Amino acid sequence: MEEGAEVIFDGFFGYRKGIFYAEGESANDIAAKYGTPCYVYSRNSLLSRIKSFKSAFSAVNSLICYSVKANSNRSILRLMKESGLGADVVSGGELRRALLAGFTPGRIVFAGVGKKDDEIELGIKKKIYCFNIENEEEIGLIEKHARRYRRKNVLCSLRLNLDIDVDTHHYVKTSKKETKFGLDVIAAAGIIKKNLRSPYISIKGLHLHLGSQLKDASPYLKALAKVRSFSEDTGFNPEIIDIGGGFGINYSEWDAVKKIEDFGIPITEQVKKIGVKKLILEPGRYIVGNTAVLLTRVLYVKKRPEKNFIITDAGMNDLIRPAFYGSHHGVFPVKKTDGAIKADIVGPICETGDYLARDAQAPENIKSGDLLAIGSAGAYCFSMSSNYNSRTRPCEVMVDGKKSFIIRKREAYGDLWRGEV
Ligand code: LLP
Repeated sequence: MEEGAEVIFDGFFGYRKGIFYAEGESANDIAAKYGTPCYVYSRNSLLSRIKSFKSAFSAVNSLICYSVKANSNRSILRLMKESGLGADVVSGGELRRALLAGFTPGRIVFAGVGKKDDEIELGIKKKIYCFNIENEEEIGLIEKHARRYRRKNVLCSLRLNLDIDVDTHHYVKTSKKETKFGLDVIAAAGIIKKNLRSPYISIKGLHLHLGSQLKDASPYLKALAKVRSFSEDTGFNPEIIDIGGGFGINYSEWDAVKKIEDFGIPITEQVKKIGVKKLILEPGRYIVGNTAVLLTRVLYVKKRPEKNFIITDAGMNDLIRPAFYGSHHGVFPVKKTDGAIKADIVGPICETGDYLARDAQAPENIKSGDLLAIGSAGAYCFSMSSNYNSRTRPCEVMVDGKKSFIIRKREAYGDLWRGEV
């Protein structure tokens, strides 16, 4: 953005002369070309986030595996791959997507609390880098397929559940004892002992994923200290530590998530002390979260003494985070005007919980046909979208400077019943 422009999200989105832009293209032009609702990604913002993440952890030898679940569009995956990242997958579908996008299998890690037999088989067949183990029975399946495909020393990390509480939404805390994830330290120690001499299984790493949208490095440091004790108690010295993802982003100006280097510096210092050969990181939200907006058009405005409602053509099926977690996403009117009203921004779905924002500020004279950009829509937005209410899912558009192109077509009605008999 040029001088004098009002910038948002690292400067790749913002206002010029009162109109909202994604890089060099105005939201008005984007909506006219591609229709609404429409996800709009900034290519340069993605590149910039990748760069800052890499630089924050550059003090140690690392493999950064982009967490595909955050946004699995193949064009986005290709960009990650071309930027030198690996992939973190949690299903056969994600593994296939990653392979289609061109990731080298040797840079793919496979996590997941319920890996199926055929998914494990695919991972073995394609020779992925590492399986992150969440229960003992998985190892039996890995061994079975490793034997069948004559693969010795399949690399595995044990995902530890270290009973660490983190300051985030209850649904995305993943390292408390009460959650389904990982192995407790006793189970993990038992597995290591048992599999020491297996020719097929090579347990060399420890995996952690503490939770998502973490605000600072403290939980990682706590977890790494526990890893050290685990190591001392069991005599197991991991060659690899995978600390998962979780690096938070600011959804609003009131969020106070630390800068990525404030995660990177203390974490890499601690990792050096443990002395592993490789640190694996699985960022999702940090990379893509603030690199997109959801562009939506106002269908109706309903003003009531109790509350104002702005009804948009995007709903909870397109972006479920506010409805599901009560998450905040910024609302940016595409045309800035003076005067503001407070309103709930709601979708057309038949549920009271169908809102994109509660008590948001909107222009006083907002009317049908106006456009709004919903912020921070890059992570867990399109990837969690659905066809609820038989609504076709939005298109996805990538902006690169003054150019833009479709990276996923808007669904057609026929897509809704494809496969039904
Ligand atoms: N690694 C593992 C093993 C994970 O389970 C996750 C996310 C990640 C990495 C990436 O985490 P990130 O860096 O994106 O925080 N739908 C929720 C977030 C769920 C996260 C699930 N696991 C949301 O919309 O906030």
